[in-house]
Amino acid sequence: MSHIQIPPGLTELLQGYTVEVLRQQPPDLVDFAVDYFTRLREARAQDHSPPAAPPSGPRDLGLGLGLVADADADSESEEDEDLDVPIPTRYDRRVSVCAETFNPDEEEEDTDPRVIHPKTDEQRCRLQDACKDILLFKNLDQEQLSQVLDAMFERIVKVDEHVIDQGDDGDNFYVIERGTYDILVTKDKQTRSVGQYDNRGSFGELALMYNTPRAATIVATSEGSLWGLDRVTFRRIIVKNNAKKRKTFESFIESVPLLKSLEVSERMKIVDVIGEKNYKNGERIITQGEKADSFYIIESGEVSILIKSKTKANKDTGNQEVEITRCHKGQYFGELALVTNKPRAASAYAVGDVKCLVMDVQAFERLLGPCMDIMKRNISHYEEQLVKMFGSSVDLIDPGQ
Ligand code: CMP
Ligand code: CMP
Repeated sequence: MSHIQIPPGLTELLQGYTVEVLRQQPPDLVDFAVDYFTRLREARAQDHSPPAAPPSGPRDLGLGLGLVADADADSESEEDEDLDVPIPTRYDRRVSVCAETFNPDEEEEDTDPRVIHPKTDEQRCRLQDACKDILLFKNLDQEQLSQVLDAMFERIVKVDEHVIDQGDDGDNFYVIERGTYDILVTKDKQTRSVGQYDNRGSFGELALMYNTPRAATIVATSEGSLWGLDRVTFRRIIVKNNAKKRKTFESFIESVPLLKSLEVSERMKIVDVIGEKNYKNGERIITQGEKADSFYIIESGEVSILIKSKTKANKDTGNQEVEITRCHKGQYFGELALVTNKPRAASAYAVGDVKCLVMDVQAFERLLGPCMDIMKRNISHYEEQLVKMFGSSVDLIDPGQ
């Protein structure tokens, strides 16, 4: 019997095709194959790559779900040149990130391939809703945001599923649509829970921003739904935008008294994760009694802090909000609930147009540890302020009362 030689690359080639079939469940396998392999040949021609399929499978030619539409076929992207790896999809786990470089100062034309995961109207609505408060998306322009949303894909998770494992290379950034998740950090062989996500927020940005291994394990504690954004799109849009953010906010962040004791690199990490939010005159920024998940620094304008309280002196008017202080440019608010792990102690309203830099509780805990003493010292003045205001000890009331 003659020995049959399997040509190099055949297994990977067929695996790539099979994965796409399983992902997309096309109605006609032959049509799908023609389309798939035609695009593979086109992509290979653009890549000037050798005839055999790349070792980790073909580029994501998704033909639907993970479609990569090349904006300019003649120019290789910066990422592509540096990485020499296929455009990752949720199925392609990144092997190494060591060679990756990114020079944010290079203002080059955006010619990178676009990742597009087509969505139904219903999916798009859910995605937009999940992303509306994501701080990392706040400073994107319309075009950048729509590219990000196009590239995102849905991932359903089961209870106890590890979405991210500490120490792994970073593949995707995730926005939470629903579900609860534990954040576990292992240090000195001890694993402890450092926080939770409760049906909102995002995670997985650190490994992608800084080319570091995953800094924590994220485990689903309920059934849930996430929207993933692949590493290449994240770096092409979010990391590039962060370079601009650094330029924009550097001098302001350096002027914030609370942050003076931090190293420059620590302040820049803050800039990387903050989002800018605008408020109109009279708009409520924080509501007394609500659960807290953000911290605010005033970039411009004025914020009025009001409290509804019940004291012996104002038993009957206890439901009225009373202004207790005003905060100005460079000052912060919204730290108390995060530090004490209690509901918001007061409400905050914009006076005139206000711009705030906003940080989520996870970043607050991770990055502002060195500023905790200053914050705690200021918190100790709140009580005095309230006694001065209301004359005797204060019993904060729930807004619902
Ligand atoms: P990344 O390191 O890519 O993957 C794990 C993610 O957990 C990390 O990004 C953050 O988004 C998130 N995270 C939340 N809290 C922490 C924390 N205290 N330390 C490290 N990562 C955290
Ligand atoms: P937090 O409780 O998270 O939300 C309301 C914020 O108002 C609070 O954090 C403080 O940052 C701010 N604040 C300013 N003065 C006071 C005060 N006297 N008592 C309570 N909160 C105050």
